[in-house]
Amino acid sequence: MAASFKLDLTQRPRRLRRTGSIRALVEETVLRPADFIAPLFVVEGKAAPEEIKSMPGVFRLSIPSLVKECRELWKLGVPAVDLFGKVEAGVKDDAGTVAMGADSLMARAIRAVKKAVPEMTVISDIALDPYTAHGHDGVLTDDGSDVHNDRTIELLIQMAVEHARAGADMVAPSDMMDGRVGAIRAGLDAAGFEHVGILAYSVKFASGYYGPFRDAVGAAKLGQKTGPADKKTYQLNPANRREALIEAALDEAEGADILMVKPAGLYLDIIRDVRDRTDKPVAAYQISGEYSQIHAAARMGWLDLARCRHESLLAIKRAGADMILTYFAKDMAKVLKA
Ligand code: PBG
Repeated sequence: MAASFKLDLTQRPRRLRRTGSIRALVEETVLRPADFIAPLFVVEGKAAPEEIKSMPGVFRLSIPSLVKECRELWKLGVPAVDLFGKVEAGVKDDAGTVAMGADSLMARAIRAVKKAVPEMTVISDIALDPYTAHGHDGVLTDDGSDVHNDRTIELLIQMAVEHARAGADMVAPSDMMDGRVGAIRAGLDAAGFEHVGILAYSVKFASGYYGPFRDAVGAAKLGQKTGPADKKTYQLNPANRREALIEAALDEAEGADILMVKPAGLYLDIIRDVRDRTDKPVAAYQISGEYSQIHAAARMGWLDLARCRHESLLAIKRAGADMILTYFAKDMAKVLKA
């Protein structure tokens, strides 16, 4: 083509991408530390933080280390943490009994964090999988072929009430079974915890990307002793979009305060669908596998960690998430503050 060639264009969108300052003016989505909720793993004892092999930079924390971490997150502007317990295999049973009571690991952890950083929003995970010997999120049916939907709920209500009593600001029922939000709402209200919110895992897919998390909480390998080999009878089929919207609508009707989609990055269409159908806040959980694959590729020298981290979260927010649970919360807050 001749050097003198000139298109006769009125619209030249590149004008708005010409300089950094113009690009800043027209930027539509901006991440801030207050967008993030940091998922944290707590263990018994006082040992130094132990890095999770499949999740570089993520540690299992004793209660004192957890408190320290929460202080740092709070200083960096991260407003909330979501706590998960990790217990030894030896204390697990088929009903996840170790998760119950005012002295459970989680209850003690919640109390410690609320005492040290009272303004921080503490969200607690409500599910049995880190505590059951078979690794499922609930108690099994008599023949062990499935998880018993209704029998599990009593345990979850007990857990939610104990966590609320310990000071949790919100509970996050994550087992993806039926009727959780309504039953837990009623249980919290009956115990005098009307003010405690429910961050509902409304749309949670049966994802292969949960692998590193199961490692992190030391969840028992599914199907080893008893119970199904996967979670497909309770978590959603990744192929299904309409079914996801039914789940979100049910949780909203049952009284969820915030609706969550999980995983996040592979389900941006679902985040957008939920965002368009509800006026409730929408959360998205960038899960362990999403985190780990960015780190793994960066370690190989194939992706730039900082750029891809930022882009992955920006996409989730652009899709419609008001808040994002992410293992990158602290790193992001540091970068955004700098
Ligand atoms: C289950 C639960 C899972 C996660 C949090 N709670 C997934 C699962 O094992 O089914 C996943 C979080 C992550 O991968 O980061 N109660």
